[in-house]
Amino acid sequence: MTCARCCCVMHMLVVPGYVRILTGLGKTYLRHPSLASACALRHLTRQPARPYFRVSQAPFLLHLAFVPSRPLGPSHSQLTTTTHCPLPRVTKAFISTSPARPDSLPSRMGQKKPFERLPQDVNPTNYALRLQPDLDKFTFTGKEVISVQVQKATGKVVLNSVDITIATATFRAENETKELSTSDIQFNKENETVTLSFPSDLPTGAGELTLEFAGELNDKMKGFYRSKYTSPDGQDRFCAVTQFEATDARRAFPCWDEPARKATFDVTLVVPKDRVALSNMNVVEEKPVPSRSDLREVRYARTPVMSTYLLAFVVGEYDYVEGRDADGVTVRVYTPVGKSEQGKFALEVAVKTLPFYKEYFKIPYPLPKIDLIAIADFAAGAMENWGLVTYRETALLIDPENSSSHAKQWVALVVGHELAHQWFGNLVTMEWWTHLWLNEGFASWIEYLCVDFCLPEYDIWTQFVSTDYTGALKLDALKNSHPIEVPVGHPDEVDEIFDTISYSKGASVIRMLHDFIGDEDFRKGMNLYLTKFMYKNTFTEDLWASLGEASGKPVDKIMSTWTKQMGFPVLEVSATQEGTSRVLKIKQSKFCAEGPSEDDSSLWMVPVSISTSQSPATAVKTLLLDQRETTVTIDNVKPDDWVKLNPGTVGFYRTQYSAEMLDRLLPAIKDQSLPPRDRLGIQNDLFALAKSGVASTVDILRVMEAFVNESNYTVWSDLSANIASLATLLSGTDCYPQFKLFVQDLFKLVGEKLGWEPKDGEGHLDAMLRSIVLSHLGKYGHQATIAEANQRLEEHISGTRTLAADLRGPVYATVLRHGDEKTYEKLLDLLRKADLHEEKVRILRSLGSVSQPELIQRVLEFALSSEVRSQDTVFVIGGATSSLKGRELAWKFVQDRWDELHTRYQGGFLLARLVQFSTSGFVEEVRAREVEDFFKLHPAPAAERTVQQSCENIRLNAAWLARDAASISDYLSTRARL
Ligand code: BES
Ligand code: ZN
Repeated sequence: MTCARCCCVMHMLVVPGYVRILTGLGKTYLRHPSLASACALRHLTRQPARPYFRVSQAPFLLHLAFVPSRPLGPSHSQLTTTTHCPLPRVTKAFISTSPARPDSLPSRMGQKKPFERLPQDVNPTNYALRLQPDLDKFTFTGKEVISVQVQKATGKVVLNSVDITIATATFRAENETKELSTSDIQFNKENETVTLSFPSDLPTGAGELTLEFAGELNDKMKGFYRSKYTSPDGQDRFCAVTQFEATDARRAFPCWDEPARKATFDVTLVVPKDRVALSNMNVVEEKPVPSRSDLREVRYARTPVMSTYLLAFVVGEYDYVEGRDADGVTVRVYTPVGKSEQGKFALEVAVKTLPFYKEYFKIPYPLPKIDLIAIADFAAGAMENWGLVTYRETALLIDPENSSSHAKQWVALVVGHELAHQWFGNLVTMEWWTHLWLNEGFASWIEYLCVDFCLPEYDIWTQFVSTDYTGALKLDALKNSHPIEVPVGHPDEVDEIFDTISYSKGASVIRMLHDFIGDEDFRKGMNLYLTKFMYKNTFTEDLWASLGEASGKPVDKIMSTWTKQMGFPVLEVSATQEGTSRVLKIKQSKFCAEGPSEDDSSLWMVPVSISTSQSPATAVKTLLLDQRETTVTIDNVKPDDWVKLNPGTVGFYRTQYSAEMLDRLLPAIKDQSLPPRDRLGIQNDLFALAKSGVASTVDILRVMEAFVNESNYTVWSDLSANIASLATLLSGTDCYPQFKLFVQDLFKLVGEKLGWEPKDGEGHLDAMLRSIVLSHLGKYGHQATIAEANQRLEEHISGTRTLAADLRGPVYATVLRHGDEKTYEKLLDLLRKADLHEEKVRILRSLGSVSQPELIQRVLEFALSSEVRSQDTVFVIGGATSSLKGRELAWKFVQDRWDELHTRYQGGFLLARLVQFSTSGFVEEVRAREVEDFFKLHPAPAAERTVQQSCENIRLNAAWLARDAASISDYLSTRARL
């Protein structure tokens, strides 16, 4: 079983009676009632955690409780319950054998893989690593001399290694000349480890372990892999690159591949003479290889003490643009040969960003250089390797002629995100993947701060609300969500948590905390934390302690309720006017996507702020709601004034207003006297409440109509997301034609205002708004828009008038949806001619908009053809799910071609995304069962939770449709056209 805090493993047979998990004050421990004292986890004192809790009786009844040791408030005693389990992953982790009552346990529990972290008896301190990739044979050879400290004499050394052959292994103790060699090298495929068994014990103290090994430069975008690119003269070539996070350094060299096993690295690469060869550090020596005139040897400076997942190498052909930041750090953006122009935008952002973070954290960037490099085949969006950040081409390259405003914004955000990791993640690293959210949640928050600094005209914080914040609320309302801090062990489980909870909920709760303690204290706390733990590892509690120290506020107590419990509250508010005061009654309960749940006793410590019509943007009152209910009095409020919770939409909760309170707020949406983030928040909350059955969907359709005069891009973008949910729901019903008219009516006015041509002086956000509006008018059948899109595509193809990059996405999707086979061929032709990856992806994502079943099928087949890179296949299939027929065909295709897809992605987060795209849009119970049945027969461990979330979503859709279909249909057919 696995410890809830750091995932060390305890061997335990489950006990009769009760097992309790006590959580509080950052302590997690297990107790059995028959044992005299609780068995506190040893890592509380930061000592190596090893198995120590063993009770060998069975059968069992497992029983969990969540007991903060300092109650949050009087009503928090309710958290001590026998049914409430805020740590479902712990439940899963607990049961690796389930002898007694399997029927009472969710199905995934029984499949748990036992997982153990590496032993601590031998510790690496430095790796002298020499690697020689062969770009023709797609192999590599390597030799490493690992300096180790033997803590405890042992004959067995266990480290991580996958898909590598080890030819020799020798050990030499410091100050000894005699070497110990072994050929007893046992791989454990499931655990991804290798055990070197030496003929006698390695003595305690320093020593050197020398290994010679070889592996394949694979095509799976993990470990040390090959990526294909086209040379300027049109030839196919390959480069060798790495992607080690989370657990794939072990595919490139045997190592202690855990984030807390930090060491320094002396890297040497032996590469073709004419290739660029990069690693984390600057080059200190280059020399010819005497035996091979076609090769050269490149030696890099020693890295700082760091985790294995941050190491990186790239060997290929590139150009670059170079700049220096204010402190003289050399910044280079590496691009494909001949395209260095496309690196300029990212370079500008990076050169501004490094000093911004230095100032924010009050800690300089510690390396002499940083390279940002675009890699043609890349699974994630980007990766923060220390000093050598790798990116998908679409996340780094901007072509002034052919890149959209959205692409520019994405590049800025990704650069901001990865550079933040250079401090938060690289300098200070999570102790175990359970705390991954520290890395990703924080970077996903501060990337916005950085873009707001570099490009204030993007109004990027408002966009945060419609992307990260609402995305997180949506997922976290599911029963199959998970707490931010989630026990994980096996690599499959680690892959699974690079998700919306770690990223977007993580970022949202940090934003809420930042707002609560204020920027000044937040910065102080960050500096304390980074200074105290630099080159070390941390637990979530360590960040809270620093922020608590800086602010004097009970940060740990507050934040534990957000990171250890899954879900979030809905605040029910009602108000009465008493003279010149408004008295609010506020009550919190868990927000559930399926509607209120009577027996849920979760409670949060909620920072609540309140605005009024006299002060729409600044809170007139703030409080910390630390119990179930409270009453608040706001003075100097006129009877007609509106009062609103959550100005700026910063608190991670939903608000359910009484009818009167909401009635007062709606006119302020219409006349836009409510700020955009507040308009957006009200709309989004109402939509979620309607979806969960608390409010009526017809009411939300009426509220949507109040947005016809809306001028803000982000508000429209958020509305669009909800329209997409409704479209999915209604697309199989008779009222879908009326729904299409409803959407056309909603977007017509703003469409007329914006037109097709950019206006003088208009900005970034107008261009993005035009793109959304035209997409919707096109998708939902607005004839004039369809005609214009066709016309413009013809002009674009014939070269009469090039389509502006911002118009291409909407035009491609519109013409395909309403076109035929010829249109499809035209787009394929554009795709084949396109050089810029962004343009290719734009077309690839649009292809699935075609309406005819035969064409949809062709798109799906095309997704797996050699013309589509694996990383993009998922989006081509995803593109096909924007229609009813497309969803049906895409899901069938995924099932039919499952083996191929599974092999292609080898588990991993891209597979999880594919599962999500291809299953979550159904609305019938029978589909949910079909999906469950399929994955029972075809297990996909890294997508396990995604499957459960999808099935939950399908069932929620089915319930929603059953509840509201008739009233929606009535409304749509009788409403007055706008
Ligand atoms: N550390 C991640 C890269 C990563 C993602 C590694 C998934 C392993 C699995 C990186 O910092 C990251 O978060 N990249 C994002 C882009 C970012 C701007 C949100 C990504 O890849 O999607
Ligand atoms: Zn990240």
